[in-house]
Amino acid sequence: MSGLLELDDVKVHFPVRRGLLFERTVGHVHAVDGVSLSVPAGRTYGLVGESGCGKTTLGRAVLRLTDLTSGRVLFDGTDLAALPAEEMRRARRRLQMVFQDPLGSLNPRQNIEAILTEGMAAHGLGGDRAARGARVAEILERVGLPASALGRYPHEFSGGQRQRIGIARALAVEPDLIICDEPVSALDVSIQAQVLNLLEELQDSLGLTYLVIAHDLAVVRHISDVIGVMYLGALVEEAPSDALYASPRHPYTRALMSAVPVPDPAVEDTRERILLRGDLPSPAAPPPGCRFHTRCPWRQPERCATERPELTELADGHRVACHYAAGIADGSIRPTADLAPHLLGPPTAGQEAARAAG
Ligand SMILES: Nc1ncnc2c1ncn2[C@@H]1O[C@H](COP(=O)(O)OP(=O)(O)OP(=O)(O)O)[C@@H](O)[C@H]1O
Ligand code: SF4
Ligand SMILES: [Mg+2]
Repeated sequence: MSGLLELDDVKVHFPVRRGLLFERTVGHVHAVDGVSLSVPAGRTYGLVGESGCGKTTLGRAVLRLTDLTSGRVLFDGTDLAALPAEEMRRARRRLQMVFQDPLGSLNPRQNIEAILTEGMAAHGLGGDRAARGARVAEILERVGLPASALGRYPHEFSGGQRQRIGIARALAVEPDLIICDEPVSALDVSIQAQVLNLLEELQDSLGLTYLVIAHDLAVVRHISDVIGVMYLGALVEEAPSDALYASPRHPYTRALMSAVPVPDPAVEDTRERILLRGDLPSPAAPPPGCRFHTRCPWRQPERCATERPELTELADGHRVACHYAAGIADGSIRPTADLAPHLLGPPTAGQEAARAAG
């Protein structure tokens, strides 16, 4: 199925410049480094990964808020990068973004009515003043805010309410796709579920398509149809949400998953815990070969440090970028002793003897 949004080998490299008088480019930050993905209409794609792996840059590149270095972004069959500025401005109505920090993304001097009608007016939507007023009232109701909110200002609302205003602002221009960048990470846990539920309700009633970005797997789990896991600018695994949780195949996904506590104490005591060694490498100097090889507990002497693995389909819709994914899954490839002693269990008698001998 072709998606409403299709990314084809998208790269965003930021130049690193040095020098006081004469600036020169001394390298590049490989923020997004070859991402291909597809989001079907009416579905949700969850994009997860650690801070700095390139999630926001990818979202901004889709909206052309950041220039692509190479690759293509197709929206409803149209290559956005090739659109002249005016056509891109019109296309932006259909592609909206909801930000992590609702207060920072709302103009503090505009009341809610002005915030919601600004985009409508810019795109010539909503008809005359009365019709626009009725439309704004309907949107407020949809996002669960009282009509009395219209004359008030962003600082008068709680974090969760402000995020509802951010969502209402996106809805006001009748978008098809909303990129939600960490939509709940600034909110209390109790409020997070309410905002995620609201996004799901709106999707059901309006047929919206979402790209939801988060650093936390738990946030995207229930809302996503498909999840992509990003590491250092590239996807390392992509699968339908249930399949990813039932059997994560990439060592990095397994490590991320093992960091999520499980409420059931019996499961919590026995579940896999993978402690990753070393820091996240800099995207200005990504490791050669498999980007994850400097921290991978299953790293093998061949290929891992030299050959970059492609995202390859292992099962229906389950794609993994690891040379040894099949062997790791069936247990024939074991964690490497020096990288993951905690995964190997207590040493055998033979290992003890070898250690004692020197
Ligand atoms: N305008 C820019 N110029 C140079 N480097 C940038 C720019 N924007 C982002 N970066 C770098 O690109 C990399 C990816 O950043 P990005 O903000 O996309 O990550 P992220 O996954 O959204 O992280 P977070 O979870 O912290 O929001 C980081 O190393 C960041 O420092
Ligand atoms: S390719 Fe090698 S280093 Fe990369 S995830 Fe697979 S086993 Fe680990
Ligand atoms: Mg970000």
